[in-house]
Amino acid sequence: MRKPIIAGNWKMNKTPAEAAALVNELKPLVADAQCDVVVCVPAVDIAAVKEAAAGSNIKVGAQNVHWAASGAYTGELSADMLVAAGVEYVVIGHSERRQYFGETDQTVNQRVLAAVNAGLKAILCVGEMKDVREAGATDGLVDYQTIMALNGLTAEQVAEVIIAYEPVWAIGTGLTATDEQANETIGVIRKAIARKYGQECADKVRIQYGGSMNPKNVKGLMAQPEIDGGLIGGASLKAADFSLVVNYDK
Ligand code: 13P
Repeated sequence: MRKPIIAGNWKMNKTPAEAAALVNELKPLVADAQCDVVVCVPAVDIAAVKEAAAGSNIKVGAQNVHWAASGAYTGELSADMLVAAGVEYVVIGHSERRQYFGETDQTVNQRVLAAVNAGLKAILCVGEMKDVREAGATDGLVDYQTIMALNGLTAEQVAEVIIAYEPVWAIGTGLTATDEQANETIGVIRKAIARKYGQECADKVRIQYGGSMNPKNVKGLMAQPEIDGGLIGGASLKAADFSLVVNYDK
């Protein structure tokens, strides 16, 4: 049995004071959650969120990590820096980074390797643009993205990676993949992992859905056998909404 994991991706939202306030509001609302609860916050919010979340079941994640240990990479953060700041999870390869910041399957792979080797839990994002789905090329694309991003990891390491299937056309648009579409494509991702790393590994990997997931559609999505959680953007910015998503089973 895979333990469900619901993670908020705050993207570029919340000052440290706002971040602490949101976590303080969230804490009692998610205290009885049956799933893992994570908030992936802007780097400047990490210290405030760690302090606010102390002693609670809320884990802290970052939104990116560089592959080098240190050096002349202005604006970047190393995996060791994140670990030292108390971060446990890190989003890697989000479609916004692929679209707007030149992230490629190769740099995503380098970041995943650095994160995993430093002991961080990677939340690897894959997913197709609208034209890819319309052309019928979704399965091949998510298979390729997944295999390339995990290249160089052992099966034991892959089993600990969290994958977020986020169809780009469903992000921030209010459009959601149907329960069946999400389940089917996540199944394709799991099959790709089984092919390369074995069925035992594929059975362990937790694969989330992301893209306009909210209190209204979470139950249907989470009822699908392949879907092990969610990566939540907009609905993670309000404690009431995010807690309803986290408590989807209540
Ligand atoms: P929305 O939930 O706002 O569609 O964002 C999804 C997402 O990109 C999470 O990483």
